[in-house]
Amino acid sequence: MNASQTTMGGPAKSGLAAFETFHALPIADKIAFLSRGRELAHCLFAEQFDKPLLERLIRLSDHLRALTKTKEGDDYVASLLSNKRAMLYFSQPSTRTFLSFQNACHILGMKTCEIRDPRTSSQMKGETFEDSIRTFASYVDLIIIRHVENNFAEHAARVLHDTHRPVPIINAGAGTFQHPTQALLDVYTMNRYLDGGIDGKTLMLVGDLKRGRTVRSLALMMRLYRGVRLLLVSPPQFRMQPDVLAALEKGGVRYEETSDFAGALSEADTVYMTRVQDEHDVAGESSAVNIASFVLRPEHLARVKPKAIILHPLPRRDEIDPRVDADPRAAYWRQERNGLWTRAALMAMMFGLEKTLLERRA
Ligand code: NCD
Repeated sequence: MNASQTTMGGPAKSGLAAFETFHALPIADKIAFLSRGRELAHCLFAEQFDKPLLERLIRLSDHLRALTKTKEGDDYVASLLSNKRAMLYFSQPSTRTFLSFQNACHILGMKTCEIRDPRTSSQMKGETFEDSIRTFASYVDLIIIRHVENNFAEHAARVLHDTHRPVPIINAGAGTFQHPTQALLDVYTMNRYLDGGIDGKTLMLVGDLKRGRTVRSLALMMRLYRGVRLLLVSPPQFRMQPDVLAALEKGGVRYEETSDFAGALSEADTVYMTRVQDEHDVAGESSAVNIASFVLRPEHLARVKPKAIILHPLPRRDEIDPRVDADPRAAYWRQERNGLWTRAALMAMMFGLEKTLLERRA
């Protein structure tokens, strides 16, 4: 998606040139712009996370999880951001990302409001992108965005940077581009359930790797771990895009591309299944792709390593037979719940609460 196509009722007029200049910057320069010292000012890309930051977030997620087990701890955590408000702007369908962000806000005591259907907002009256974003920022202290356009959240962050209310933006799913907070919860989940953590493990990503934003962000984050090997398993039409492959090569991550799902299964420590992202079809092209051989069925389980975990960002269609759910290696329901703690930890950290929280004993 071209920057000039960022729409919200009408094309952004003023400031578009500024965004285009920003958007064209190398990722490293953008990361500096999106940070406040060691902290994230906005969360837009997987590349914003370095290893120390991921480790801090994992620790804070665990701590929040432990703290909120008691009513006293839960009440304490809910007092910390009771003076803050968050907006969830989700113009694409969402169940778990929406609910986990909303409930993570509530865990921290933040009040929430939402727009899930832009047709009910003033964008329909022709308000510009910039005016709409500034309006959201007038009422809240954080904006969490899911949008079909790859650059929408980035553009919002750029717009707010130049205003007197530069409220943080979190990308909760950007088109076919990235979904960094899903990658965060995926990393947390792998770190929690893989024996010995993520270093040296083989991660198998299966399905629509071309348009799946979760697998793109997750692959990029794997550059932070030592000796990780990626098995990129997809039909030829859905291969991982060259930009991610180039980043993996630069980051020294070994990867193999294959269509042999059953063959790759026995090598994986994490089997990460995804669905076909056919909402991004231009002319129904997904229907021509045969995905029947990229489905995890009970008969495959004998091939999966005894200590492997099976993940899926969900929602699933038929990539994982429901009979697999009962297998102890099926971790997708735990993975889903982990989104609550990792998203709460991310927001707590963005509001400068890491130290305060860690000082409170669980
Ligand atoms: C994913 C997404 O929206 O990209 N879902 C999610 O956030 N858990 C994956 C998908 O929709 O296939």
